[in-house]
Amino acid sequence: MGKITEKIRYVGVNDLNKVIFEGMWPLPFGVTYNSYLVVDEKVALIDTAEAGFASEYMDNIRKELGGKQIDYLVVNHMEPDHSSLIKMVRDAYPAVRIVCNAKTVPMIKGYHGISENLHVVKEGESISLGNSTLTFYMAPMVHWPETMVTYFNEEKTLFSGDAFGTFGAVDGGITDSDAGLTGCTDGCRDTFDAFKDEMRRYYSNIVGKFGLTVQAALKKLSGLEIARICSTHGPVWEKNVGEVVSYYDRLSKYEAEDGVCIVYASMYGNTAQAAKALSAELQKRGVPHVLHNLCTENVSYAYRDAFKYNTLVVGAPTYNNDIFPPVYNFMYGISARLMKNRRFAAFGSFTWAGASVRLMNEMASKLGFELLTEGISFPQAYSPEKCDMAALADLIAE
Ligand code: FEO
Repeated sequence: MGKITEKIRYVGVNDLNKVIFEGMWPLPFGVTYNSYLVVDEKVALIDTAEAGFASEYMDNIRKELGGKQIDYLVVNHMEPDHSSLIKMVRDAYPAVRIVCNAKTVPMIKGYHGISENLHVVKEGESISLGNSTLTFYMAPMVHWPETMVTYFNEEKTLFSGDAFGTFGAVDGGITDSDAGLTGCTDGCRDTFDAFKDEMRRYYSNIVGKFGLTVQAALKKLSGLEIARICSTHGPVWEKNVGEVVSYYDRLSKYEAEDGVCIVYASMYGNTAQAAKALSAELQKRGVPHVLHNLCTENVSYAYRDAFKYNTLVVGAPTYNNDIFPPVYNFMYGISARLMKNRRFAAFGSFTWAGASVRLMNEMASKLGFELLTEGISFPQAYSPEKCDMAALADLIAE
């Protein structure tokens, strides 16, 4: 699946081996590390791939180039899933000039010991490959400080780094005309919908804190005509460019659809019963909702759906006079992501002194969430009388 256009070649890899990304996030459908060649009189390689794929990656390059040399290696982003093979590329193509910005220079030296033959670019500068021009725009904190994007002027193609990327390996092709989500068995050829949940999970897990800087980057790029987005993860967007950019815009503004994300954890089942009671009451009222039990699943999915729905309801028992740790971790993550624009309610059980609901309300208030109630903190065993989820469902449905 190398050829995207005559001049743009895909040389990335699918990773179906890694189970946890960044040591935290599950990969049920794998992930891609995308890298591209722009081939003209001169050749530019855009980003590299993760260390474990060195052999496959270098083979991909050789298949496309034969004996032709690489003149430039453009480093849009230094996170090691894209930069691990910089040294290997430099060793295989010793004349290659590394194109990067000033913030990247110490990172390349620190990770690879490379400080020679760098071509340092500033905002809006270009390089010519002959009849092809690559222009560089800085996109700091999307999601690292050195991040930049590369625009191929003549083909209106944006090499966007992680921006517009998604979890999920691809099969059947690399562009969204024919790429499918590997391992997905339902509706997987309608690519944007197939990847939408994984894109939101990627965004919320990894980029979610940086809504303001993503907005700044989107504003800067809005002046460019974009026919194709080549990100570092997931399909190359061509037919869905408009939808993808618009979805990223919504996510980075913390915009959400009507519905409820219920997140809870429970030690002996009482807070769990309350969560399930709320789910049943919402079901009766036809309110879209999802339920995430942090005792049995990775918090990644709760973040994904907290970014989807406009109402967040969180349940935790009191533990050590504090929030039960799995839920504290989630609330901390929501705070770290500077989440905005949510309606919020808390609930949870305690045995001798309740604290979790009050503390969760405090965290939510700091984020400016609208508290729907003062919360439901109930002693000992769950019962509908102590924990009126019908009333909370009525409030939410209103
Ligand atoms: Fe895919 Fe921020 O690296």
